[in-house]
Amino acid sequence: MTKKMPKDFLWGGATAANQYEGGWNEGGRGPSIADILTGGSVNKSRRLTPPAPLEDEFYPNHEATDFYHHWKEDIRLFAEMGFKIYRFSISWSRIFPKGDEELPNEEGLKFYDNVINELLKYNIEPLVTISHYENPLHLSLEYGGWKNRKLIDFYMNFAKVLFTRYKGKVKYWLTFNEINMLTVPFGGIFCAGILDENENNEENRYQAMHHQLVASALAVKMAHAIDPNNKLGCMLAYHNGYPYTCHPEDILFAQQYGQLHNSIAGDVHVRGKYPGFAKRFFEENNITLKIDDNDNKILQEGTVDFVSISYYSSICVSATSDGEKTSSNGSENIKNPYLKASDWGWQIDATGLRYVLNQIYDRYQLPIMIVENGIGAIDEVSSDGKIHDDYRIDYMRKHIEQMKEAVYDGVELIAYTSWGCTDVVSASTGEVRKRYGLIYVNKHDDGSGDLSRMPKDSFYWYKKVIESNGEEL
Ligand code: BG6
Repeated sequence: MTKKMPKDFLWGGATAANQYEGGWNEGGRGPSIADILTGGSVNKSRRLTPPAPLEDEFYPNHEATDFYHHWKEDIRLFAEMGFKIYRFSISWSRIFPKGDEELPNEEGLKFYDNVINELLKYNIEPLVTISHYENPLHLSLEYGGWKNRKLIDFYMNFAKVLFTRYKGKVKYWLTFNEINMLTVPFGGIFCAGILDENENNEENRYQAMHHQLVASALAVKMAHAIDPNNKLGCMLAYHNGYPYTCHPEDILFAQQYGQLHNSIAGDVHVRGKYPGFAKRFFEENNITLKIDDNDNKILQEGTVDFVSISYYSSICVSATSDGEKTSSNGSENIKNPYLKASDWGWQIDATGLRYVLNQIYDRYQLPIMIVENGIGAIDEVSSDGKIHDDYRIDYMRKHIEQMKEAVYDGVELIAYTSWGCTDVVSASTGEVRKRYGLIYVNKHDDGSGDLSRMPKDSFYWYKKVIESNGEEL
């Protein structure tokens, strides 16, 4: 048997509104939490400046890489690459500028009507993330973010507008981006919109996660009722933590790391209830969740149709030793001596992708989408005016090879969308120079650049991969 990808495999790319769209104060849009985050770097954290942007600060997400004014051109480039699917998020504050209004902003919806119609024109399947790292700012300032149960109703109002408006046009939906980032402080800000540092503690984050899990389950039920063809997925930042040594304590620690960072949220989404180990973890960490009587029923009735993940790197974890530390997506942990890393220290581990896909499929037996994968790198324009990003091609080739292995292992993989298919602003550092794109955007960290687009070498390479359904790597 040769290692082939399924016939209808969905190849494509992924972005998020807050990092890509720009137009932060156009078309009636209200500010989101991403609009009060300054730029940063690998050594300097981004800073929040509530309640509003400051005059003398630079906010990279305000213009981002300007999909708001380049959507037609960018979608044409996606079509040229042969995309079958495009993952993007809908900016909540473009539709509900404050988040708690009853009626949506029609001008905001028109923008997404255009985007979706343009995708469908090229037979590109839209995959919509309902909430990707940008709660309307007002919901944080007025209600304290997702630790407040009221946000469930506001989210449902938003979701209903989307499911109704895009009925028959959008079939695939993700309820929350990387919900499991709520296990770390980063997620308290990005996922939950908890802006006060003193409030960004474990108890509030797990309470916020509970509210999002309830909202997700309600959204699944609603979407199925509005259109039985709708398919809803959860989205996990897959934390792949290997035991640093074969000491049994390290093996157990790695298992617990995975349970905590991946499976608490994943199990509730897929199985409709908290796993046994969650109870012990909450008890031992003095986390008391407020769970309404009806919540368990809601969770049971709103389980997802598929699982999606972001996968960039792996990390080592240990209960027994202190190794040299490095960062990975959303956390910092021990370096793996067998792996090389990106310029931002994220360790490149293609084999880990096969491992993770098998692990998820063994656990859930649901179709899987890889909705984020790629390498953040510094791209230089060469003397011939082009970008020769062979390091990106190498990264993607190795990961796609492992994806094929996983399919051969029996994993039901249905989609792959490479992250930041057009260059976007980095979520963790706020930089543009941490580029993931197959399409270069002439935009720089000091805000300069004419925003023109240019395919990189990886663009032409990926086009062939898609054309050959993964045969030509
Ligand atoms: C994921 C997020 O965590 O990783 C994206 O869903 C993010 O929003 C991506 O951009 C890469 O991370 P970063 O920090 O390099 O942008």
